[in-house]
Amino acid sequence: MIGDIQVDAQGRHRHFLTTEGLPAHTIIEILDTAESFISVGEREIKKVPLLRGKNIVNLFFEASTRTRTTFEIAGKRLSADVININTGVSATQKGESVIDTIRNLEAMHTDLFVIRHPQSGAADLIARSVPAHVHVVNAGDGRHAHPTQGLLDMFTIRRYKGAFAPLTVAIVGDVLHSRVARSQIHALTTLGAREVRVIGPRSLWPPVPEGLGVVPYTDMAKGLAGVDVIIVLRLQFERMNGALIPSASEYFSLYGLTPERLALASPEAIVMHPGPMNRGLEIASEVADGPQSVILPQVTNGIAVRMAILARLAGALPGETKPA
Ligand code: CP
Repeated sequence: MIGDIQVDAQGRHRHFLTTEGLPAHTIIEILDTAESFISVGEREIKKVPLLRGKNIVNLFFEASTRTRTTFEIAGKRLSADVININTGVSATQKGESVIDTIRNLEAMHTDLFVIRHPQSGAADLIARSVPAHVHVVNAGDGRHAHPTQGLLDMFTIRRYKGAFAPLTVAIVGDVLHSRVARSQIHALTTLGAREVRVIGPRSLWPPVPEGLGVVPYTDMAKGLAGVDVIIVLRLQFERMNGALIPSASEYFSLYGLTPERLALASPEAIVMHPGPMNRGLEIASEVADGPQSVILPQVTNGIAVRMAILARLAGALPGETKPA
């Protein structure tokens, strides 16, 4: 099963591949550690020496702005040496397999790989191939998981809303193709959110919503009624086989988050989006840039959460020998 190799025989957190099955106490520990790292970004000298002498390789086989950059900043703030591989100009283009690429980078004394790949399961495959002292972080694999995004979203929700137990969270849009939504749903249900809703056309619902512990809605007005958190998702056309929505303009007219629809949620509701955003398709600019939006704080929080995960895997935090 994907995820069963996240913890080593001594119970140490070795890889970070999925939020599925991650115990609540582990998630809380990561969020608490991230909280302590927020202040590092507010100092004049934004560095701590926890990963001095460690090599981190960011290996992205798919486009990224937020994840790749915040992982680079996180590694540098921990004083690691961070190398970014542009797979567009790497030997992958000459037919080298992913595993051979990893073996060659291991030979350069890599301690930690951050992997993004369009195939579900790629990070898991790599984690199974690396030696015991090397760690792998999944930075998004196909439709499967984006666990660091999931946890930075939990961090953001906790910062604005406090406890998870009273919260109703609505995830709006293309849940079917979203690795972010899967990682969020596993974390939200583990943390005991009162209700997690998914809202969108049936063609974009997950195959078995109740199996994931979510309540599906096709109607935006009903689904948004009284919610505390709204997470808007991009339509992931690159992962769709055929047209699953009638047209972009019809999608926005039915499911776009407009100020009028936002008014149906709790007056204190926050609006989130993992990015990249398509304004006028899934979200109106007035909402994306409005007072309830926490979309840019999500990005900033990603640095502290990714610092916490990198330091945890490397065993660089005090008391990191207890089971995950
Ligand atoms: N949220 C997210 O994964 O964004 P990027 O694709 O820019 O990394």
